[in-house]
Amino acid sequence: MCLAVPRALSAEEIRDVNARYHDVAADHYDAKWGIDFGDVGQAQVLAKVRKALGRDVPRFERSLEIGSGTGYFTLNLMLAGAVRAATCTDISPGMLAALSANAQRLGLEVCTVATDAEELPFADGSFDLVIGHAILHHIPNLAQAFREFARVLAPGGTVLFAGEPSRYGDRVAQIPKRAAATVAPLWRRAIGARPAPPAEGGAPEASLEGLVDVHAFAPGELTGFARDAGLTDVRIAGEELLANWFGWTNRTLEASAHPEDVPWGWRNYAYHGYLALQKVDRALLESRLPAALFYNLIVTARKPA
Ligand SMILES: C[S@@+](CC[C@H](N)C(=O)[O-])C[C@H]1O[C@@H](n2cnc3c(N)ncnc32)[C@H](O)[C@@H]1O
Repeated sequence: MCLAVPRALSAEEIRDVNARYHDVAADHYDAKWGIDFGDVGQAQVLAKVRKALGRDVPRFERSLEIGSGTGYFTLNLMLAGAVRAATCTDISPGMLAALSANAQRLGLEVCTVATDAEELPFADGSFDLVIGHAILHHIPNLAQAFREFARVLAPGGTVLFAGEPSRYGDRVAQIPKRAAATVAPLWRRAIGARPAPPAEGGAPEASLEGLVDVHAFAPGELTGFARDAGLTDVRIAGEELLANWFGWTNRTLEASAHPEDVPWGWRNYAYHGYLALQKVDRALLESRLPAALFYNLIVTARKPA
């Protein structure tokens, strides 16, 4: 028997797949990931930034977001008063269109630019803050991307990325995912849900899903990219352990069922359970356990003044 070994995608193909996958995902992205622009969303984002900086969140004058998606990070930071003027970039025009619609609904003015993170169309020293959430693991050449982040940052400016999958945490998250997939038929029977319909119109998205994530990180790797780009004061933190296991269990169960059959009460339990466990992680675990154990990593650094 001859087994075909899948060919690794080139950097260009990874970018293309990311743009196409996220263009299709943009329409239902906020609903799928529970993205919120109210008090909950603002508190979540401020907590991440505070954790990253290790101090109260100051007000940044000019911020640039990389891979901004529908605006989770930037729009919440603007609403919370932590950012004055914002530029949001993404490789997916569909995501930027969703972001602009969110910004308009929230009464915020944001500049959007469709671009690849490795080639930023901005002059040197244009921003005081370069941020991103759940983006670095999609970028083929991170050394080049970090050089660009450092270049567009003004002296003394801050780089801050959160929500990056840690290699160890990602491996451990397979346990709740597999366990949930095993019990999913029983769970569906218990809540009276039909199995999820096979993807048809959404087929392009489903078929690209396994190709968009290209890295999971050991904390030292992120530190290395930042230092090699000339950044200093590099800090790494970890977040979400219990919350993540709980979240992946519920997401795997929900994905196995017909969306119309998942009761509101269940979704409410999953959402509030996740928020409660985030608080437990924050209060008890994050300051005591090594960053590598957590599902998400946060990296922050500074451009020398
Ligand atoms: C997982 S989503 C996160 C979106 C948003 N930051 C959030 O947290 O909700 C990753 C985003 O990165 C964008 N992206 C992927 N590869 C990129 C690249 N090479 N350059 C810029 N953006 C990219 C995707 O289009 C997508 O919007």
